[in-house]
Amino acid sequence: MQPYQEEYLINLRQFSALSQRERPGELTCGEYAARIMDNRARTIRLGRRNMELLRTGLFPVLDDLVAASQEELRELEEFSFQLYDGRTELDVGLFCQIHQALLSLARQKRDRSAMIRELYWLGMGRNSLVSKLVGLEMSDIEEYIARMRLCFTEAAAYLKYYHEVEDTETRGYILRARANMALGQFHAPGEKVALLKKTLNILQDKYYQEKAPSLPWERFIYLTHQNMTSSISHSREKVMTPDDMADIMESAYIVYQQRFDEAEMQGKQPPAKSAFAYYAIEYFCGLYDLETFLTKMEGLLDIADPTDYSWDGIYGMISLPAFYSQYLEQYPEKIPPRVEYVEHLYRRMLSYADSYPGDPGEGNLFLYLRQLSITFIETDGDVPYGEFLQRLLLRFAPEVYRHSRTVAEGVRSLCSVIMEDDPSFFDDVDFIRDICDQAEKRRAVLDYAMGCGLFHDVGKISVIELFSRTPRQWFEEEYEMARLHTLAGRILLEPRSSTSRYAPAALGHHTWYDGSRGYPSAYRRLDCAARQMVDVVGLIDWLETRTSSSRMYSDGPKSFEEAVEAAAQLEGRRFSPLLTARLRDHGVAEQVKDALKRGQQDACRRMYEDALQTMGREG
Ligand SMILES: [Fe+2]
Ligand SMILES: [Fe+2]
Repeated sequence: MQPYQEEYLINLRQFSALSQRERPGELTCGEYAARIMDNRARTIRLGRRNMELLRTGLFPVLDDLVAASQEELRELEEFSFQLYDGRTELDVGLFCQIHQALLSLARQKRDRSAMIRELYWLGMGRNSLVSKLVGLEMSDIEEYIARMRLCFTEAAAYLKYYHEVEDTETRGYILRARANMALGQFHAPGEKVALLKKTLNILQDKYYQEKAPSLPWERFIYLTHQNMTSSISHSREKVMTPDDMADIMESAYIVYQQRFDEAEMQGKQPPAKSAFAYYAIEYFCGLYDLETFLTKMEGLLDIADPTDYSWDGIYGMISLPAFYSQYLEQYPEKIPPRVEYVEHLYRRMLSYADSYPGDPGEGNLFLYLRQLSITFIETDGDVPYGEFLQRLLLRFAPEVYRHSRTVAEGVRSLCSVIMEDDPSFFDDVDFIRDICDQAEKRRAVLDYAMGCGLFHDVGKISVIELFSRTPRQWFEEEYEMARLHTLAGRILLEPRSSTSRYAPAALGHHTWYDGSRGYPSAYRRLDCAARQMVDVVGLIDWLETRTSSSRMYSDGPKSFEEAVEAAAQLEGRRFSPLLTARLRDHGVAEQVKDALKRGQQDACRRMYEDALQTMGREG
């Protein structure tokens, strides 16, 4: 590989080590805070260096790939598969850029085998990106799914030239692409089932098999059955037809039976995932009622092993409770007798996550927890939803946590100033207007301010790879995807009573005051009763981002005073003039500045205490 490629890979590994939660070791709280900020600064330097490497080493090559030598192309491929190989994901975004360019080259050269191969790998990369967008509406991520599926669909279309293709490898890519057309979400379960059914017919067809006997046919077929079992729609809106169910049932039987036999031979329980899929489809086929199905699920939940951190173990401890919650959510009448049980599951899940021996930033633990964050059932018990979300941030997205806590203190401080002069400033919000006692109203506003700050970026957990795992500047599509954090925030916060009031801040904090710019379009300022609070969050968020070191690719952090000056320049357009006017008062600006500093210290202290508690001193 080229020296720039080697260096980029070394930087990637360093970047991911630095982005993890820091172990407290023998550090004091103050030293720990300094270490966090230092790590942050180092990741920023690494990110800048990486961009430099790409700008000087990679991009010129990609722009003139026709002129590249065979050796250069080979090195480029090798480099790309170090970034992503279908399993390990170091920098999938860059992987996609490279394979996009290789695909264009293959098209230019009319090299059919290369085109098919590149389409397959580009589809794989895009699938990896899309599968990380957890908990968003289908309509919000449809274009990314379509872009991914298009790659597989085009590669699979070469099936009609299957007989002309000479090499087995290319035939394999065509078939794999055909099977992968069923990856990702669909509007209706039937669409996916139909695709998979056709794929199964192709894979089981002797005509195709005989032309490429060395391909792992059994495995292709098994994986397609496995994908079929994941077509089970657990949602009440996406109804499966009886035909869909029969097809899924058949596959579930095949998959389950094989796993079951394997487990029996090793004297183990069948994996929770297969058992659950099997029960679910039996339930949908009408073999038993919902109550029996829930009881069967509880049987699986009860035998989940809290010391098992394998895929299956994590599935049983976190995913299964997520599916269980999803069924309960759709049939709320089933919840009351199960409240204590649900609370028990969540407590168990949290202590399981706390005792996770590996790196919390790695693996599937966080992905599964994110899935649970979407179906989480809020009870009056000891695991309030908001706290669960804060713990996720603290544990898995420490930089988002630090930023949010800092913003929260700043928002609270500016609201406190406003309330002194104008106690009815936030009276558009129902629950605030209803409070008559002034002291109580003030307290409520400050509490609300704090919550809005703490939760404004919670949607970042749905696109966390972009925010804490991208070791360079974002590419255009990544910028677009990152904007989804506003919509994801609303989806998480709005449905649950303890957090619903914070949803407008999550949705609206990046829109402009005059509506001319910003995102998302789903936020309409004038329709929002909490707009004054959203304005405050938007302003403080902007100031924090500009003054903290988290701006990876601008010209470095600005001083607070400079940031305030810049905000004032945007008065009436980006920011509410009522707010920028306040900041012109030097005393008020100082107060906000102090609050941000306090918030940051507070965040670091909490991170330290939590790390001490869950990671201990050793290591
Ligand atoms: Fe944000
Ligand atoms: Fe933010």
